[in-house]
Amino acid sequence: MSNEHVPVALTRTVELLTPALTGQSPLLIDATLGLGGHTEYLLEKFATLHVLGIDRDKSALEKAGARLSRFGSRVTLVHAVYDHIDEVARNQGIERVQGVLFDLGVSSMQLDSSDRGFAYSHDAPLDMRMDQSAGISAREVVNTYSHQELTRILREYGEEKFASRIAAKIIDARTVAPLSSTVVLANIVKESIPAATRRVGGNPAKRTFQALRIYVNNELEVLERAIPTALNVLAIQGRMVVLSYHSLEDRIVKRAFAEVSSNEVPHGLPVEPKPACFQLLTRASESASEEEISMNPRSQSVRIRAIERRAA
Ligand SMILES: C[S@@+](CC[C@H](N)C(=O)[O-])C[C@H]1O[C@@H](n2cnc3c(N)ncnc32)[C@H](O)[C@@H]1O
Repeated sequence: MSNEHVPVALTRTVELLTPALTGQSPLLIDATLGLGGHTEYLLEKFATLHVLGIDRDKSALEKAGARLSRFGSRVTLVHAVYDHIDEVARNQGIERVQGVLFDLGVSSMQLDSSDRGFAYSHDAPLDMRMDQSAGISAREVVNTYSHQELTRILREYGEEKFASRIAAKIIDARTVAPLSSTVVLANIVKESIPAATRRVGGNPAKRTFQALRIYVNNELEVLERAIPTALNVLAIQGRMVVLSYHSLEDRIVKRAFAEVSSNEVPHGLPVEPKPACFQLLTRASESASEEEISMNPRSQSVRIRAIERRAA
């Protein structure tokens, strides 16, 4: 395996998917292909595995395509948003798959790219769209949205205590000149936060950048649609693994999994409970191992959940 990128929670992800991928010609949808790290490892481990890789970022697909080219026709790559996973599969003539993997959020390539604007740590135009051919950029949001709208975004998606103060500072600053770079925004956030708070808890811009990224890419609504859609394409004994990186994502996954794995009958109804179609493979969300965290700091915040289909 090439070491250009260390996939998060690789060992546990593979362990969870393995029972589903050991059949004759298993199919896996990697709904967040990124740089193809998880997929590369799985293709090496399972000699007859075919992967349908999806990403909304064309440059990720290009890079992963080059990295995975040695697997030839065992890999099919599609540019799409993952809530269209069923349609993407159907277009490839696929009805059911043995595995689905979601590794949510941004890739290290997106964070490190000097022209994408995801990171507050280096200067770049304020874009933050994973698909640069569609949608509204962070620049448009910070330069045109009202104080109320900006406050809501920062509070809801960044869980930012000082949302209203940051929104007010953004509006003040843009009356002088439009905000166009990551460093300008990061400085505005820093100035909006009380000095005592600035000294603790890492870079104060982290939550604002996270909030804008989630909003610009409509990440939570898309995820909410995607999980049930992906569960629908799982074959019996097929498994799905989701790696989330913050509580809002994990809550969506937890609820969607709980809904399909519960066999509770509404209280008072005179019917026998039917066995649920899905079974949870992880009781609560799991974290990465200490060893993994020491090798790959990105795995520190990961929450792992997995589920298996038991019946049609
Ligand atoms: C954390 S990275 C995946 C890394 C990958 N597992 C690896 O090992 O290289 C997440 C990827 O998912 C993509 N992505 C995020 N949201 C998406 C969505 N709604 N639809 C399709 N792709 C999405 C991002 O563009 C990014 O490339």
